[in-house]
Amino acid sequence: MRQGDLARAVVGVARACLRRGFARPNMPFRNRVTALLDIEHPILLAPMDVVSDGALAAAVSKAGGLGLIGGGYGDGGWLEREFVAAGNTRVGCGFITWSLAKQPELLDRALDHAPAAVMLSFGDPTPFAERIHAAGAKLICQVQSLVQAKEAADAGADIIVAQGTEAGGHGAARGTMTLVPEIVDALPRVPVVAAGGIADGRGLAAALMLGAEGVLMGTRFYASREAVGHAEAKRRITAASGDDTQRSIVFDISRRNVWPAPYNGRLLRNAHMDRWLGRENDLMQNADAEAARYAGARDAGDFDTAGVIAGESTGLIHDLPGAAEIVTRVAAEAETLLNNGARR
Ligand SMILES: Cc1cc2nc3c(=O)[nH]c(=O)nc-3n(C[C@H](O)[C@H](O)[C@H](O)COP(=O)(O)O)c2cc1C
Repeated sequence: MRQGDLARAVVGVARACLRRGFARPNMPFRNRVTALLDIEHPILLAPMDVVSDGALAAAVSKAGGLGLIGGGYGDGGWLEREFVAAGNTRVGCGFITWSLAKQPELLDRALDHAPAAVMLSFGDPTPFAERIHAAGAKLICQVQSLVQAKEAADAGADIIVAQGTEAGGHGAARGTMTLVPEIVDALPRVPVVAAGGIADGRGLAAALMLGAEGVLMGTRFYASREAVGHAEAKRRITAASGDDTQRSIVFDISRRNVWPAPYNGRLLRNAHMDRWLGRENDLMQNADAEAARYAGARDAGDFDTAGVIAGESTGLIHDLPGAAEIVTRVAAEAETLLNNGARR
């Protein structure tokens, strides 16, 4: 057999195997994000303030994704403890950028633990980019608009997380479906990860089709065994529909933590939100009494008053598995969908 014939025969057999599903083309999951972060599955745990602790982050990383500890508003002691709790597992962490700017020394405490990546959300990453890169960590910037994406790229972001309005927690107005491909088209040199409304393999497959090279999930991992959270809050996430979530500033006023524009927070609607939505000025007039009532409800696990932070993907979540199962399930579902699509 001549060399050309042999090559053609090998290609023919390989194609037949693919058609029959004997070999699976894993190519969708080898991309710039998996290479940059040195991970198997392009799945990132959102650095959810307090919810994403060291144990949850480590569980996601051990399953082949990347766990990001939720640095949130910045509690140095908590951050130290959670890096220690993650042990030798490669994890990263995230900060709320405008809050980090008030205590920038927290970044050094995080960098002392050699994080794989630092994610900055909600504010200008420029003042922190150099230190993050100098420490050998990747800079991930979460953005809510094309303008912010370009600023993040200028600041040296290694990866941009395009967060759509469907997301749980703080965010802005653009939807994931258009924000992701618009940023992908505008910034071909920077890999994009999609966030907001993604909770299963369909979401990961769709994100990859939009040109993203990974997903970052918050609400899905909140409803996991390891996540730090009240059992009743997790139960409500498994029971709620996407219709039951709402962006507002009611929650921020009630806990005396109002954010700079344009951010507001998506939570599950409850009696407290229904009472004050559209009457935020009245709520501010009653802020002292309502803040005390709100804090008490949070301590007591009364989620008719205290808020459950969750995105529209709550409607896709019906169980409380371990974080590793979430990673492997989402990756396997997406792979099957993409393979079936390729065969069609
Ligand atoms: C409970 C909760 C807390 C969050 N806290 C933070 C945070 O502290 N910092 C941050 O950058 N993003 C935070 N987010 C937003 C996530 O980074 C992410 O954009 C979002 O969870 C993605 O949408 P999804 O919830 O539909 O997966 C939080 C989200 C949730 C659900």
